[in-house]
Amino acid sequence: MTATAISIITISDTCSKDASSDTSGPTLVQLTREMFPQSLIRTTVIPDEREVIEAMIKEYCGMDVDLIITTGGTGLSSRDVTPEATKAVIEREVPAITVALTTESLKKTPMAMLSRSVAGIRDKTLIINFPGSKKAVIECFEIVRPILNHAIAIIK
Ligand code: MTE
Repeated sequence: MTATAISIITISDTCSKDASSDTSGPTLVQLTREMFPQSLIRTTVIPDEREVIEAMIKEYCGMDVDLIITTGGTGLSSRDVTPEATKAVIEREVPAITVALTTESLKKTPMAMLSRSVAGIRDKTLIINFPGSKKAVIECFEIVRPILNHAIAIIK
């Protein structure tokens, strides 16, 4: 069995100007490393630009990445375009992942209503949008953790 390949994409205008200000990406690396110790994890920090996001997701999918987690850009500001970019590149949506993220996150904060996260599949890659804060990525990872192994195995 080949090692799991994971990509973490931090989507933030601020962090793209100064990657050292990104705390959510490194947190996701730590969480995925703990869960998939043998995995190959790639990271990138990009601005809230729809074309850039779409190109990055497509590039990782072309590299046979099993799982892409994006963090940031799911909210309501005019610069938040992660869901639109994700919808444009996925071939099949996995709506129940989004339902679970929303339902469970609402138990933590009503602000979860403000996230428009999308989850779906392109070729053999599962793509999940998380909100941008470190707190949110920790909470959201706990929500999807139970399904990740099975989902990746089925999609492969
Ligand atoms: N979901 C969880 N689990 N925990 C959180 O702290 N923050 C919310 C929401 N979802 C949050 C959450 C907030 S404050 C916002 S504005 C939206 O996600 C969108 O965040 P984003 O624009 O950084 O993606």
